[in-house]
Amino acid sequence: MARTKLVAGNWKMHGSLATNSALLQDVRKGVAGLTADVAVCVPYPYLDQARGALLGSNVAWGAQDVSEHVQGAYTGEVSAAMLADFGCRYVIVGHSERRSFYGDTDAVVAAKFEAALKSGLVPILCIGETLDERESNVTTAVVTRQLDAVLARCGVAALGQAVVAYEPVWAIGTGRTASPEQAQEVHALIRQRVAREDAGVAAGLRILYGGSMKPGNARELMAQPDIDGGLIGGAALVATDFAAICAAAV
Ligand code: 13P
Repeated sequence: MARTKLVAGNWKMHGSLATNSALLQDVRKGVAGLTADVAVCVPYPYLDQARGALLGSNVAWGAQDVSEHVQGAYTGEVSAAMLADFGCRYVIVGHSERRSFYGDTDAVVAAKFEAALKSGLVPILCIGETLDERESNVTTAVVTRQLDAVLARCGVAALGQAVVAYEPVWAIGTGRTASPEQAQEVHALIRQRVAREDAGVAAGLRILYGGSMKPGNARELMAQPDIDGGLIGGAALVATDFAAICAAAV
């Protein structure tokens, strides 16, 4: 099955009204007419700015996290319905920074994934092993455990409306990229795990790679048979780099 590639920028906690304004305009212009799907996931306060700047373009926008709750006394949290209100298409769940700094367990991530789907958002589910885990040869077990938590809670059909991002923690923001072969190996095992539940969902599932993807390595990574795009951190803050990565997603 042909899968349209997706390149999503994760701005993390960067930006200001002034810098975003230029970045959004430059991204909008830089990726116009490309074949890949493109998105930017911005900090909550800038969702309205992203919506205004990207409306009518081929760039979708989204958020970087979401509450697992529908509404109520959860000070500081933002619900999936609120994100949908802002026209978000995507929301990242389970990013390794959420898992490691904010205690998002596999169960919490699965609940957030479900909340996103119920509001019509497309969750981008991040999974990936730490350096310790890779060196202890438990990459497969870790990635499978993270994926299985979502499969158990939401069922395989839910993955038909979602995106998975393999983000080896040791490659995030380190300049140390997984080799195309290393990444492909894990992407293939993710797809095989989903195929055990439903071959059709597995064939259509977009699995992005994230971790120091740059213009110089993007084409080779995304040429791998099971790499369907990228989740881009640092390079998403430089419009020309981000556009070059999007152009490499063919
Ligand atoms: P970098 O591209 O900066 O390594 O970040 C990857 C990432 O965490 C995207 O979610």
